Amino acid sequence: MRKIAIIGAGNMGGAIARGILGGKLSGEYEVRLSNPSAGKLERIKAEFPSAVTTVSNVEAVVGADIVILAVKPWLVKQVIDEISTSIDVEEVTIVSLAAGISVDDICDMFDNSLQAAYSVARAMPNTAIAVGESMTFVCGDRAAKYKIDELNMIFGSMGHSAVIAERMMGGAMALCSCGIAYAMRYVRAATEGAVELGLYPDAAKEYIFQTIRGAVALLESTGANPEVEIDKVTTPGGVTIKGLNAMERNGFTTAVIEGLKASSR
Ligand SMILES: NC(=O)c1ccc[n+]([C@@H]2O[C@H](COP(=O)([O-])OP(=O)(O)OC[C@H]3O[C@@H](n4cnc5c(N)ncnc54)[C@H](OP(=O)(O)O)[C@@H]3O)[C@@H](O)[C@H]2O)c1
Repeated sequence: MRKIAIIGAGNMGGAIARGILGGKLSGEYEVRLSNPSAGKLERIKAEFPSAVTTVSNVEAVVGADIVILAVKPWLVKQVIDEISTSIDVEEVTIVSLAAGISVDDICDMFDNSLQAAYSVARAMPNTAIAVGESMTFVCGDRAAKYKIDELNMIFGSMGHSAVIAERMMGGAMALCSCGIAYAMRYVRAATEGAVELGLYPDAAKEYIFQTIRGAVALLESTGANPEVEIDKVTTPGGVTIKGLNAMERNGFTTAVIEGLKASSR
């Protein structure tokens, strides 16, 4: 059985461990998880007794085929220094989730003499990975295609995954990893507006969810540009165009674009 070591059992590492152990790939991989504090490990072990948990990063990576670095970006170098002599250079695929750290940056963190031998990739999920609905991006020119394909398959089992060029990673992260917060903010704003219009917030949230589901379903079924579907709603002189124009006067499209650009820097 192939072995995946996940370094860091936080939001991402914990969700990935649960997603592999309890999802479509259940039984396909041995999952090892390391974290400095034991509480998170104990909770995962209680849910999935087959998980191998340890407070030692070195113990987690020995013999691993895939090592997922799920620590904060500023800890990546420290973790690489710790594990680099304990991994199988020829076999292992190193996958970093760290925002803003390139594949080349990661390769540079390894001892010079071994850099060329390492397969390094990046994966960028979003927090919906915890419910098997992530939009994840995988990239890495320094790893063989079959290794990238395996990562794409693994992350695809926890939602949807796409392989992209690394130069697109910043934009993709803004759109989907940060973007999940923007989608939440829309839900919050719409709920606040609904309450001002006299609806109850919990009910309004459900109505908004279904409206968003409907919008996605329509766009997916027709493949149309959103404006085509918007045209169907906007009667001349009607209330929808008045609402859309009021939103635009308040900077809706500009706010979204500027927000995405700010996130991708
Ligand atoms: N959150 C997101 O939406 C998101 C999206 C895409 C990518 N990412 C990337 O994913 C990575 C992890 O983010 P996160 O949100 O999962 O962070 P997190 O919840 O803070 O998890 C990080 C985990 O790493 C553990 N840790 C700290 N030092 C460690 C060490 N030396 N060795 C092993 N584990 C260590 C922490 O343990 P303790 O808490 O016990 O200290 C914590 O459980 C980041 O690089 C981030 O950029 C995050």
